[in-house]
Amino acid sequence: MLSAREKSDSSVGLRLLNVDHRAIERLIEALHLAMALGERAEGTLPLLRQLSDLTRTHFALEEGMMTATGYPDAAAHRRSHQHLQQQLDGFIALCCRGQVILNQNSLSFLFVWHSIHSHREDARYADWLVLRDARIRQESIAPSALSRPFA
Ligand SMILES: [Fe+2]
Ligand SMILES: [Fe+2]
Repeated sequence: MLSAREKSDSSVGLRLLNVDHRAIERLIEALHLAMALGERAEGTLPLLRQLSDLTRTHFALEEGMMTATGYPDAAAHRRSHQHLQQQLDGFIALCCRGQVILNQNSLSFLFVWHSIHSHREDARYADWLVLRDARIRQESIAPSALSRPFA
């Protein structure tokens, strides 16, 4: 059975976001696996850079959707993205300079970083989008029902 979010007209956009969220999770899982298999820090840098690129693209997609749909909390969400991207890029820079040792503990930072944002702030946007679609649908049905001739 489909959830309210999946039934919504916004589901295409939300599916796009979920595809990205899953890709980000897969990259973080790949980093954990690489570390578990004894990969050296240099070997994981391409994965970290992919994560940074994907995150940047994903944030731009979300921000574009928020602007297009008139999301009232778009500015705060954008600031959160900027903060997260700076944290991620700072983390990667420290790894490149060898100032952070990439291990399972430091990688859990990435998992928490992504998980908290997607489960709280992105979910809040998704809920708002579903309600907005429902309101638009209701408003588009109401006038035609009123203009129906009396029998
Ligand atoms: Fe997201
Ligand atoms: Fe977001």
